[in-house]
Amino acid sequence: MIESHIHILPQIDDGSSNVEISMKMLEMLKMQGVEKIYATPHFYAHREKSVLDFMTKREKAYKKISSPKNVYLGAEVAIEYGISELLHIEKLAYQGTDLILLEFPYAKYSSWMECEIYNISLEYHLTPIIAHIHRYLDFFSKEQMKHILKMNAIFQVNNEAFSNFRQKRFVKNLLNEGYPVIFGSDSHNLTNRKPNWNLLQKKVSADIIQKSENIYVAY
Ligand SMILES: [Fe+2]
Repeated sequence: MIESHIHILPQIDDGSSNVEISMKMLEMLKMQGVEKIYATPHFYAHREKSVLDFMTKREKAYKKISSPKNVYLGAEVAIEYGISELLHIEKLAYQGTDLILLEFPYAKYSSWMECEIYNISLEYHLTPIIAHIHRYLDFFSKEQMKHILKMNAIFQVNNEAFSNFRQKRFVKNLLNEGYPVIFGSDSHNLTNRKPNWNLLQKKVSADIIQKSENIYVAY
């Protein structure tokens, strides 16, 4: 399985707070059958000096866990007004791919958000992955969700969505309707947000997981 979204790098965001926790998270992922990991620390443009500065911090954190070969670097980029014009934003794509993980603000939907995503993908020929799409059910209307689903994007689902009735129903619909869906744990630690690929394997068929992994191949 492929981990698309995880805060496993130590001391870079609100995820793993030290090397030991990161190493245990890595071990858990391995036990659960995850072979490839995209490490996706939060990137908030307004908090960082620059993209390059963030990348230096990310590289240091990756070296702290002995640079495992199955961990690829990425980021969870928060959509902020004007972010598509930020210098080097395209460098935050998943390492070795044309995919970039983007997170909508947890606020009322506004059309500039979609414009920023559109501009990033158009300018840099990247395909956006919309992080934990099911979470926005609480912030956006049905119509707005429909609108977002029309975007030329991949929709990332957190494994935990399957333990919430409303979110599960939404995700099952996405899968039934053939939307491109990939899974992730969005794990931050070893306690309340730990790697949970065992949950996904209980809730969906191996076919569906396989299908989601095939999506990466094209990018
Ligand atoms: Fe996240």
